[in-house]
Amino acid sequence: MTDDTQAPIGIFDSGVGGLTVLKAIRARLPGEHLVYLGDTARLPYGTKSPASIARYAEQATARLLDEDIRLLVVACNTASAVALEALRAAVSPLPVIGVVEPGAEAAVVARPGGRHLVLATETTVRLGAYRRAIARLDPAAEVRELPCELLVALAEEGWTEGVEAESVVRRYLAAVEQSDYHPDSIILGCTHFPLLRDVIAACAPAGTSIVDSAETTARFVESQLADTAAKGVRGALKLLATDGASRFARVGGQFLGERLEESAIEIVDL
Ligand code: DGL
Repeated sequence: MTDDTQAPIGIFDSGVGGLTVLKAIRARLPGEHLVYLGDTARLPYGTKSPASIARYAEQATARLLDEDIRLLVVACNTASAVALEALRAAVSPLPVIGVVEPGAEAAVVARPGGRHLVLATETTVRLGAYRRAIARLDPAAEVRELPCELLVALAEEGWTEGVEAESVVRRYLAAVEQSDYHPDSIILGCTHFPLLRDVIAACAPAGTSIVDSAETTARFVESQLADTAAKGVRGALKLLATDGASRFARVGGQFLGERLEESAIEIVDL
């Protein structure tokens, strides 16, 4: 890792979802320069094969390396589940931080020995990424994983509240209730899902903890940077996408809580 605090942290996801992680990193490390890449042209990743996702993740990483990043955050659970180890090996000694491990840690801290329900994409569920990560941290925990791909589309559309979002969430959760599994925690195992956090909390039984990996990931980033963290007040933010600048600006801006101009989104080819 370079000690150059002027070098940015690179962050990527399939779309705007990883902005949930970017926001947490920015809150914790406001002086850091950040470059974010949303691979919107190929979203969703969650329904694609591991081979395709691994290739997309490699290409996104290569594009961020062009920005001379000093640390890479894979702000996508699906890409973390599929490709984290391969990416680490490919870019070593550049540090690479995924979101599954921090999500699992946040859940076991919130509910030690608890029953967890992981909402994630089809591929993350198929690979059992959370099941394994939680078993390593807390062997007494129980885990169920539920693919909820439609929630990615709702988040990308900006439909994160109201009857449409609520009925989709209720339909997914009904399958779990019917199987008589009563979770203590619901893990938002996709970085798009924190956008639907309020709806998910409203549809979950009272007392269920809602856990996401953004805050814990930001903590991992901070401890990785240690005393090389940039001290400035407000680092620069560069936003890259592979398609749909206006949609990215609209939904991404809504989420970051600031107005994003379409012209601020650079469209890139991977
Ligand atoms: N936001 C991503 C994740 O955390 C992927 C969503 C998708 O593209 O399917 O898994």
